[in-house]
Amino acid sequence: MDRIRIVGGQRLTGTIPISGAKNAALPLMIASLLTEDTLILDNVPRLADVSLLQRILGNHGVDVMIAGKRPGEIANGGRTLHISAKHIVDTTAPYELVSKMRASFWVVAPLVARMGEATVSMPGGCAIGTRPVDLLIMALEKLGAAIEIEGGYVVARAPNGLRGGDIVFPKVTVGGTHTAMMAAALAHGTTVIENAAREPEIGDVADCLNKMGARISGAGSARIVIEGVPRLSGARHKVLPDRIETGTYAMAVAMTGGEVLLQNARPELLQAALDVLAKAGTAIVPTNEGIRVARNGAGLAPVEVATAPFPGFPTDLQAQLMALMTRAHGTSRITETIFENRFMHVQELVRLGAHIHLDGETATIEGVKHLTGAPVMATDLRASVSLVIAGLAAEGETVVNRVYHLDRGFERVEEKLAACGAAIERLSA
Ligand code: EPZ
Repeated sequence: MDRIRIVGGQRLTGTIPISGAKNAALPLMIASLLTEDTLILDNVPRLADVSLLQRILGNHGVDVMIAGKRPGEIANGGRTLHISAKHIVDTTAPYELVSKMRASFWVVAPLVARMGEATVSMPGGCAIGTRPVDLLIMALEKLGAAIEIEGGYVVARAPNGLRGGDIVFPKVTVGGTHTAMMAAALAHGTTVIENAAREPEIGDVADCLNKMGARISGAGSARIVIEGVPRLSGARHKVLPDRIETGTYAMAVAMTGGEVLLQNARPELLQAALDVLAKAGTAIVPTNEGIRVARNGAGLAPVEVATAPFPGFPTDLQAQLMALMTRAHGTSRITETIFENRFMHVQELVRLGAHIHLDGETATIEGVKHLTGAPVMATDLRASVSLVIAGLAAEGETVVNRVYHLDRGFERVEEKLAACGAAIERLSA
């Protein structure tokens, strides 16, 4: 397995292009199952998770054509996928595939909506917590699907099609909202989703579904209304920029000092995180091209943050903020409220010399003057990238093992950072 080697101490200066959002690209690819026509997605990031989902969709009979280079195209910009689910040949998503990527469970919704049947493996455990799918199942039942659990699989049946219904989520769930929205798009009648997730990726998927002929209103608010239609058609849609990648690089710049333009980034997608960074002493300036992030001279101030569903501070930036706060002047507190066990970076940061005390869901971080490089690893992609951020400021050499996790969600992380002056390289296995 590849490793990433970092020698800390370099400031970051330059431009980092922000890729399309992983967590929008995945449900958008899954939405292709709702139509016989071709769905064209632009700005799809080059990530291991995208390739894996391509394989999973291929198993259902979906063809994915990736367009070659075009004149004037920036090298390594996002890719264009032409996705055709004209003939669905298999409505089963097997354990071997679903267990590798939880989001692939979401295929259950378009498959049962369009084909009247889906058999999808339950995803099983996960590095960041138990992550059940009970609310996704509840949503499908509210739309009239008959659900059985057989041999580790969820079997969803709606031979006469789904019908609209009222879905009230007792807890905000991104995956639950995506699946409810996709299923309801092809149901007979009207569906109302209450306490819907408001994450920008929900709005992006709703925009794409509407281009495909769906009738969805209210996406981005806590109440989404969907008038079902009998069929959806093809469309062309550009994946929105990745707010988690944006926040991650903003924290990297806050960590090392320097000044970087996060090109194509949109501040409204991560205002809560940008506010925290500003409080910590980072200059954040939105521009026409993206967001300019700088920290010069001043040290880092400690912060108190709790993760929350959008528009709150995202759980997917919790590990990165913790890495940053290891170097703050004072004591920070970070509380994780979304996943019960998303702290695997803590012990690895401690190996680099961080002072972190974990008490239930709250981490108390005493800022230290120096981190020192060491070999580290993590089994969750956000935890892995937090170790990269720490390594950029640590004295000496840090080697991040199991880079596979980084490649799932960050496109060319070492190239993007090296282009801004970081001493970082990939060591191929
Ligand atoms: C999405 O996961 C993201 N994944 C996650 O990104 C992100 O951390 C998470 O939303 C929260 O923002 C994708 O978009 C592909 P949830 P999802 O359903 O949809 C509980 C990353 O690093 N819950 O919003 O699976 C659940 O346990 C990742 O890119 C139930 O109890 O998350 C959690 O406590 C990892 N029952 C809370 O809801 C259910 O049926 C929120 O989870 C479903 C969820």
